[in-house]
Amino acid sequence: MKFHVLTLFPEMIEQGLAPSIIGRAVEKNILSLNAVNIRDFSVEKHSKVDDYTYGGGAGMLIQAQPVYDAWKSVAGDRKVRTVYVTPQGKPFTQKMAREFARETELIFLCGHYEGIDQRVLDETVTDYVSIGDYVLTGGELPAMVMIDAIARLVPGVLGNDASAEDESFFNDLLEYPQYSRPEVWHDKKVPDVLLSGNHKNIVAWRLDQAKEKTQRVRPDLYAKYQQKQELIRKLSKQKRNNIHLMESLSRGLGEILFMRGEEVIIQDDDAATTFLYTEDKRMSEVMQAALPPQASLILANNQELSEQLQEQGWHLIGACSQYLYTAKEPLPVKYKNIRQLTLDDLEYVNKHYRYEEREYLARRIWAGLMFGAYDGDRLVGFIGVHGEGSGGMLYVDREYRRQGIAESLEAYLLNRCIERGWIPYGHVMEGNEASELLQEKMGLYKASKKLYWLDRQQ
Ligand code: ADE
Repeated sequence: MKFHVLTLFPEMIEQGLAPSIIGRAVEKNILSLNAVNIRDFSVEKHSKVDDYTYGGGAGMLIQAQPVYDAWKSVAGDRKVRTVYVTPQGKPFTQKMAREFARETELIFLCGHYEGIDQRVLDETVTDYVSIGDYVLTGGELPAMVMIDAIARLVPGVLGNDASAEDESFFNDLLEYPQYSRPEVWHDKKVPDVLLSGNHKNIVAWRLDQAKEKTQRVRPDLYAKYQQKQELIRKLSKQKRNNIHLMESLSRGLGEILFMRGEEVIIQDDDAATTFLYTEDKRMSEVMQAALPPQASLILANNQELSEQLQEQGWHLIGACSQYLYTAKEPLPVKYKNIRQLTLDDLEYVNKHYRYEEREYLARRIWAGLMFGAYDGDRLVGFIGVHGEGSGGMLYVDREYRRQGIAESLEAYLLNRCIERGWIPYGHVMEGNEASELLQEKMGLYKASKKLYWLDRQQ
């Protein structure tokens, strides 16, 4: 990923980020950081870049020309997402960081003085972003804050197998308190439950703590959490048919974008998936109006809805059956040499799983949700959890088939999901009988209704 920063203080950016983890990722060529001095593009005497504001008002404004030329020196004729850091922008969030982390190149434009001439902003800027409701002297610190938050989401930046998945905002709750040795410090003892070894009780305690803390510190987040919990309860009346929606919400992947009566839209920005749910079979006009214009991949919950979308130009990728595993007991894994993949395994996965892009597979590995079967040190098969939450991507080398490795990989995946408190589920495309048989053999339940995957007509 390439970061460019257009600034009057390039040394602030270079020196600010160089000693950090971001600096190390730059040294390892995972990231590049290019600080461009706007002043170098001044055509005036003494490299002047600012002038008085038309219409009066205190302070100076950065002029359009040097900013435009600096921007052009980076972007050329390409379309590069350009972020103007300004207190007048949209508030920066973790969700936004995830979205930016999917870009391959970003330009940050840092203002100073009273800001920048509006005309050059209109021609170059794609996103106006603020880091909070307070005013700093310039955009360099906010740009560094954003670069830090975005960069740590780029696979490899935190190390090959480290994951940034356990966010403090995961599941829409603030993080529970954590403790390390010693067991007693300043007469304060680590809560007994954490020493009990009882995983179920520990998870329940952590959830309680997170809820209590969120309600107290961030009632706004807590209200959002409660709205999701209410929808999950409603959807659970048809758990087999709705598990994809329930898990998207409970794992903190999807956001409720629209909800009215029996109609729901859940948007998962990370997986770029829009879940459409309606009990009226077809979408109402109100629901259609709420469908985000940038939606590119849809999972629809019934055939009529899928047909309606096709009439509107969407392309049906396929119908699938949904399977879920509701037992809480871990399954036996017969093939012993299975472990989490690291980015070193990316080439193998990319070679054998061609349905997704390399970057997507890198993000799945880096999220800690892809697992491989090895023969000694040789990787011979893999499985993983997709961005929107379903299990899949199963592959085993031809000469290693019919030895129960697929079944072991699936059992291993189900166990990792159960450990996280998830209900594992997966989709089997119509006609894939081998996979249907495997799901049934493993004890997964099949939902009565099919689901429909659609994408934009090419
Ligand atoms: N520039 C000055 N203050 C800022 C803020 N709060 N966020 C983004 N850019 C800024």
